[in-house]
Amino acid sequence: MPKKERMLITGGNALEGEVRVSGGKNTAVAVIPAALLADEPCTIENLPDIEDVHALVDILRSLGAKVTYVPDEFMTIDPRPAESHKVGFQQARRLRASYYLLGALLGRCGRAMVAAPGGCEIGSRPIDQHLKGFQALGAEAEERGGMIIVEADELRGSDVFFDMVTVGGTINVMLAAAKAKGTTVIYNAAKEPHIVDLANFLNSMGAKVKGAGTDVIRIRGQQYLHGANYAVIPDQIETGTLMIAAAATRGDVIIRGCIPTHMEALTAKLLEMGIKVSDSDDAIRVRTLGAHRAVNIKTQVYPGFPTDLQQPMSALLTTARGTSVITETIFEQRFKHLDEIRRMGARIRVVDRVAMIEGVPQLYGAPVTTTDLRAGAALIVAGLMARGVTEIYEPEYIDRGYEHIEEKLRSLGAEIRRETIE
Ligand code: EPU
Repeated sequence: MPKKERMLITGGNALEGEVRVSGGKNTAVAVIPAALLADEPCTIENLPDIEDVHALVDILRSLGAKVTYVPDEFMTIDPRPAESHKVGFQQARRLRASYYLLGALLGRCGRAMVAAPGGCEIGSRPIDQHLKGFQALGAEAEERGGMIIVEADELRGSDVFFDMVTVGGTINVMLAAAKAKGTTVIYNAAKEPHIVDLANFLNSMGAKVKGAGTDVIRIRGQQYLHGANYAVIPDQIETGTLMIAAAATRGDVIIRGCIPTHMEALTAKLLEMGIKVSDSDDAIRVRTLGAHRAVNIKTQVYPGFPTDLQQPMSALLTTARGTSVITETIFEQRFKHLDEIRRMGARIRVVDRVAMIEGVPQLYGAPVTTTDLRAGAALIVAGLMARGVTEIYEPEYIDRGYEHIEEKLRSLGAEIRRETIE
């Protein structure tokens, strides 16, 4: 039997001090597979030391790539010895982003066979748009026996129109198109900061990507991509989670090493709640003086309010004065954490994709279970706010995306630890 763990939080301490944000998870999981497109070794820095990154290292090594990884320092990927184009079930299910191996291997060797991806269960999460994009570039794509198979005699640049804004679809098509013959134009592209970061990484390898950060991206494919040294951007969602945790404990925290302009949707909502937020070039300070006011939130694609922060934000709103209404427009099952937070005394009603949160004066510690990564972040926020001890079961989900979260929170004064259970 594998060891089981639980996280224990004694709530009530106001977080105070300074904390440094880690490199972005959702940019790291795109940039690491992208290194397979290079014809020389690449070195990547500022990668977060998280389970999703470890899983990708294992996958790249199983493909034959030479990977030297010193956590919190650098990762060097030499893709030249990689001969395989297959990623099996046990590996692909470890993370959602294993689907980026489809675009990266298709670009690299003209074919890829990757088992259906794993990741958090927050909705049905189809990848039809990714496959439609590969087909537009001249690939055949099919799903057979749990494997996704894509293959092309020659990838040719083309126009790709997405039916909806998809982060994963945009990234996957960018990866394949970087090595296609001719120019690909992606319409209705996602604009998230990690799309821009991936474009910058590809361009540092000699790719020709223009327009990332707008809804039309142009990629002129290149035959040869050289090696590059690159540092990924800070994690927008970790930054947001720390901002919310600071506010939730009525603390005073400076988050360093972040990009404040990526946080504008959250900052606007915190200000509306009556929370003080100020920023400089690469730091944000969050502190609370008066009462928190209820606010309404609708998740949207960037630059709207990110779905990944909806869950921690909902925990914060449980004690705000008045009734908050959250509408989740991106994933249909991203409210599972609310059942757990209800056990802690929150008053919440969910109808379809809308949650109504009526503020209560106080949450109380209780045993709760994590159902996905950001649900885990929400439970941590709730635990930090609550009176008494919160036991969080299955905290492993949190390790997929948050680097050293307990150490960081402890350094700000939180009482949080992990223990092994029988
Ligand atoms: N969609 C389709 N067909 C597709 C692709 C997407 O119907 O082919 C739908 C999805 O079901 C969803 C919507 O389009 O309703 C948006 O999905 P998107 O493709 O943008 O999301 P994703 O690529 O699966 C990434 C992040 C998520 C983040 C979303 C939205 C990675 C590895 N994952 O997911 O991150 O929530 O974008 O910003 O980058 C997380 O970090 O906790 C996380 C879940």
